[in-house]
Amino acid sequence: MRGKIISVEGIEGAGKSTVIQFLVDFLRQRGHTVVSTREPGGTPLAENIRHLLLQTDMTESITPETELLLMFAARAQHIQHVVKPALQAGKWVVSDRFVDASYAYQGGGRQVDYQRIAWLDTWIVADCQPEIVFLLDIEPALGLARAKNRPGSQDRIELEKEIFFTQVRAAYLQRAHENPTRFCIIDATQTPAQVCAAIARRLEML
Ligand code: TMP
Repeated sequence: MRGKIISVEGIEGAGKSTVIQFLVDFLRQRGHTVVSTREPGGTPLAENIRHLLLQTDMTESITPETELLLMFAARAQHIQHVVKPALQAGKWVVSDRFVDASYAYQGGGRQVDYQRIAWLDTWIVADCQPEIVFLLDIEPALGLARAKNRPGSQDRIELEKEIFFTQVRAAYLQRAHENPTRFCIIDATQTPAQVCAAIARRLEML
């Protein structure tokens, strides 16, 4: 038996953590073995790449191309060492972000050509695509206000201006409209209970 990948996407402050915890508990209650992971990250090397990507004390700016390639370098490690072995063992993978984040952040936010991302997607991700992508949709002003209230300092990408997240959100929604069977758009301004109920309804359809 082959497991499935479920990813959770959205801009900062959309409420991914609550949804991920709910998803993991829901799937475990239904008897699945679940691996909860994240991108960029999920392996020691990929977590090191994450640190490079998100640190704020760099004296050198990261180009959009470097950012994209580092995201995919981390993803290649993650898929090879975590995702594929889990799927082959029949486990389900719940990932806090996956390949669609590259279309949204590097494509929408950084304006890297969509075709280049699609090419990397075909090469690195290939058939390891998520079964469902839960897109937690929220207006950037609201999401960013929520994110600012969280403890801890903001990372390099979180420090971007609101217009960047407006472009990220638009790219996510565009991707969702292009892939309607895979994507499930959730209104993230609802209460956590309503958001989780919407997630459960989609999972029951699997
Ligand atoms: P997180 O803080 O939600 O874990 O995500 C880390 C940051 O990395 C977040 O700002 C989104 C960004 N990101 C990309 O820009 N491209 C990607 O492909 C991925 C997976 C994340």
